[in-house]
Amino acid sequence: MRGVFYVTTPLYYVNDQPHIGHAYTTILADVFARYHRLWGEEVFFLTGTDEHGQKLQETAAHAEKKPQEFCDMMVERFKELWRKLEISYDDFIRTTEERHVQVVQKVLSDLYQRGEIYTDSYSGWYCVPCERFWTEKDLLEGKCPDCGGAVNVLTEENYFFKMGKYREWLIEHIQSHPDFIKPETRKNEILGFLRKGLGDLCISRPKKRLSWGIELPFDDNYVTYVWFDALLNYITAPGYLSKPERFERYWPEALHLIGKDILTTHCVYWPIMLKAAGLPSPKTVLGHGWWLEGGTKMSKSKGNVIRPWDIIDKYGVEPFRYFLIREMTLGQDATFSEPSFISRYNSDLANDLGNLLSRLLKMVESYCDGRIPEPAEGSDEDRALQKLGSETSSRVREGIENFKLNSALEDILQFVRATNKYIELNRPWDLHKQGERVRLNNVLYNSAEALRLASSLLYPVMPERCSEIRRQLGLKEDKVSLEGTKPWGELPAGIRIAPGEALFPRAEIKKVEVTSKMEAKSEGVKIVSFEDFQKLDMRVAKVLSAEKVEGTAKLFKMQIDLGTEQRQIVAAIAEYYQPEDLPGRNIVVVTNMKPVKIRGVESTAMLLAATEGDKLALLTLDKDLPLGAKVS
Ligand code: ME8
Ligand code: MG
Repeated sequence: MRGVFYVTTPLYYVNDQPHIGHAYTTILADVFARYHRLWGEEVFFLTGTDEHGQKLQETAAHAEKKPQEFCDMMVERFKELWRKLEISYDDFIRTTEERHVQVVQKVLSDLYQRGEIYTDSYSGWYCVPCERFWTEKDLLEGKCPDCGGAVNVLTEENYFFKMGKYREWLIEHIQSHPDFIKPETRKNEILGFLRKGLGDLCISRPKKRLSWGIELPFDDNYVTYVWFDALLNYITAPGYLSKPERFERYWPEALHLIGKDILTTHCVYWPIMLKAAGLPSPKTVLGHGWWLEGGTKMSKSKGNVIRPWDIIDKYGVEPFRYFLIREMTLGQDATFSEPSFISRYNSDLANDLGNLLSRLLKMVESYCDGRIPEPAEGSDEDRALQKLGSETSSRVREGIENFKLNSALEDILQFVRATNKYIELNRPWDLHKQGERVRLNNVLYNSAEALRLASSLLYPVMPERCSEIRRQLGLKEDKVSLEGTKPWGELPAGIRIAPGEALFPRAEIKKVEVTSKMEAKSEGVKIVSFEDFQKLDMRVAKVLSAEKVEGTAKLFKMQIDLGTEQRQIVAAIAEYYQPEDLPGRNIVVVTNMKPVKIRGVESTAMLLAATEGDKLALLTLDKDLPLGAKVS
């Protein structure tokens, strides 16, 4: 029997525009779904939209639209973004769909008949213009905290769900099902919440103040509270009413991915609703952290929302997917900024992965006539690379199964880096020169096979770019799989490579100003520590003589005096100075460089100069100091 994997995202409110937070949870679900598909499992990936409630009714009224019309318009923004982000959902559910309304009403009727729902009156401070209740402590000087208007005590009849009596059961369930709430910190939050006691849940809204919702099947003066409505989507979609067999196969496997903002509804209301309806709890609720911007949660009301398309348009969809998955440790918050995006992109994708592909293809092109060479009996180094490959595959699987996606990606990148190192160590260019054909073929084959494996492992995160890697390696009509594949050697020898455009061209750094170390790092400027800087021994020296290096246009051979010793240096400044300009000047040189020979002339120090365009100026001192004085 094939394993079953059922994964969901929250149903997003359509009155908000989708932003990076929504994109994140959905990409996360997509990545999980794609890994499980590659492992040969039967996957059901569900997303959708939450369309009822007060907020929606108000926003639609504001836009002078009927609620349904407004929802129909807004839902397209989500669908469009999911297309762009390559979200491979199997079902998209809207809470206004008939299939869902039926389930909500069925569950409500059942619960009502079984005595799980009762009427009671509720009293609170009601603000008429805002159409909502406030508690005593919400009020600001006795007035509505939102509009500042007068509030009055209003008593309202409503329907309540007997949630409180399930408190003990839920605590026991959470404790005996360690996989139910992930990560551990979230579980403790919920247990802490439950320890303070648990009341019943008001599940109705009188139509006279809110009409946009699912009517209660037993009282048409009321609509259903949005959360009681929306959560039930998770059983509607796999077929609770329509396809019972399918439902029974999928439901016990359910993995709900949510942000920590909606933890209580998913970890308290939801399992109790199911329990009361005689249904099992979902297998796992995973509450991830928030994407922050400048230290606070991104949200529409704070105006610090990063719209995903801005980043995507500049850098592409798949690097964006990679960044989000790589950068967030599930459970913790993470910060999004364009500089940190660029820095991650350049180091992992442009340098490590992109570079491996392009250097490898170049070598196959020039040393093997553009065909993947035939491997032979391998060396210890070859076997070490193969072993790392299969260890990486297992570690990735373990990482995904334990919700450690960022470390799974890091493992893959470590493998890519190890492959680059393997190339550097084995120096195919020397093997080629020395005519060591067998060894050369082996090294190139293993590097190509390592890249093929890396492209399978990264496929769920960057499906198109990984397909492109495989296409450039020469694989045609390729089907990526991580299931029962040969651990090594799947890449057929003899196929013709198809080099194409660079997969991850380096991202440009736009800002020049460097204001802090962190920023400099993320702008892609190489950071050196103070200790590193101190390693340079820079001294004041006097130029004794200068003459052109024979047969060159740019080079001067110069004798310099460091006070304690004289040295010879070669410098490419002949286009900017006449030989007679230089003797007598005090300049700055680095004295602890490794000596080099330039055009056969030895140079034992390096002078410092500033350049810009076609200008060059030597660094000199604005006061006299003894020769050999240290520059720091
Ligand atoms: O709560 N960082 O919908 P919603 C990370 N309709 N994730 C974020 C985020 C951020 N800054 N902002 C939003 C609702 N999210 C209900 C759900 S489910 C039956 C009903 C993501 O549109 C995260 O997944 O407010 C969060 O839980 C969800 O969007 C909230 O989406
Ligand atoms: Mg929200």
